[in-house]
Amino acid sequence: MANLVVVGTQWGDEGKGKVVDILSQWFDAVARYQGGNNAGHTVVVEEEKIVLHLVPSGVLRRGKICILGNGVVIDLEALIHEMDQLERLQVRLAGNFYISKGAHLVLPYHKILDAAREQKALHRIGTTGRGIGPAYVDKMARVGIRVAALADPPIFKERLALNLAEKRAQHPENEALAALDLEQICADHMRFAERIAPFEADTSLVLDRMLKEGKRVLFEGAQGTLLDIDLGTYPYVTSSSATAGGACTGTGVSPRRIDGILGVVKAYTTRVGGGPFPTELTDATGDYLRERGQEFGATTGRQRRCGWFDAVGVRYAVRVNGVDALALTKLDVLDQVDPIRICVGYRWRGRRIDEFPVETAHLLQCEPIYEDMPGWMAPTVGILRYPDLPDNCRRYIERLEALAGAPCALISTGPRRSETILRDLPATAPWRLGPAG
Ligand code: IMP
Repeated sequence: MANLVVVGTQWGDEGKGKVVDILSQWFDAVARYQGGNNAGHTVVVEEEKIVLHLVPSGVLRRGKICILGNGVVIDLEALIHEMDQLERLQVRLAGNFYISKGAHLVLPYHKILDAAREQKALHRIGTTGRGIGPAYVDKMARVGIRVAALADPPIFKERLALNLAEKRAQHPENEALAALDLEQICADHMRFAERIAPFEADTSLVLDRMLKEGKRVLFEGAQGTLLDIDLGTYPYVTSSSATAGGACTGTGVSPRRIDGILGVVKAYTTRVGGGPFPTELTDATGDYLRERGQEFGATTGRQRRCGWFDAVGVRYAVRVNGVDALALTKLDVLDQVDPIRICVGYRWRGRRIDEFPVETAHLLQCEPIYEDMPGWMAPTVGILRYPDLPDNCRRYIERLEALAGAPCALISTGPRRSETILRDLPATAPWRLGPAG
């Protein structure tokens, strides 16, 4: 038994797509448990860059079972676009891909409400505009429409009509809502339903059967811990459970079946959208990290805010997820930076704090306390063995490990699959990175 949750430890964009792509070779199935097409996982296979928003990146490996769990919210048009693209790339989906009947749909009015809220809001969250928040609002308000409803067109239409009427009543000024055509949405969704019908399943059951057969499952988190609806920098968060706990509720798999948690962490920090970011760099170094790290959103193309490594945030993520080991990414982006700063604590109202504050307004007032490390000023791109990394680079990694409270089991030294260092560590023994057994 060796089932693993892969979770982001910062504000998303840690490089989970690449990490999941590499690890999936040792797993039988990859299951997504939350989020929707707000996510964007970039994978480079044989020089081709592939961006996936919904389908787990494990799909790029032949024969792997890929699952969209009940915790995911699905924009069917976006999903079908992605499925068509994958099939054009000769990726076989039939028999390998399952969509939970319990997953909620992102409908056209969700996207309209997402945009309307962002336009009017006093504190803009800077959402991806994909309708994710409003879809989860409906789920919690118990008026959401799930994939299973597509099988019964009259029921689907009735619920859709009710919801649309309610949204219009709540937002009488919204012209885009008024312009939506119920018949058109229904017709589109009946067409989408036909396309996805062969892939619909009770995915909790599919996973249970696999687990009983001793198959290995990797649970792929989207976004990151600090964007989690409960544990992130609320209200500047996404609307789902991006932490490891979400893996169970979002797939219908018991916590008893999880053997390990791998936290993905970038060698520095980025954030897209609004909200506090204590180590943000608005200077030339920030611009340098953005350019060198190609820090532009995979989903929206927006510039990512860039800053130094924040060990307070990562230590918090290690704790709330129970991270056994870290996968460190984009180390090579720091190859020519000297010195490199690490935030080891915060100064808040004249005193030092070492714990991530619950109140976001307090986090906004926190000043980072930095420790400087000498840079290594040498290329690390493509280095495959840990001892071959420059001395200062290993010192930096070891300092991050000590501050975060978890060892680095995987170190990514470039975007390609091959540009990866794997380390065999005691912490990973229950699920080790490599073939089972
Ligand atoms: P939403 O998920 O579109 O509602 O956006 C809420 C916040 O989460 C915004 O700050 C987004 O920029 C951020 N966000 C959502 N998905 C991702 C992601 O995949 N990577 C990084 N940030 C994300």
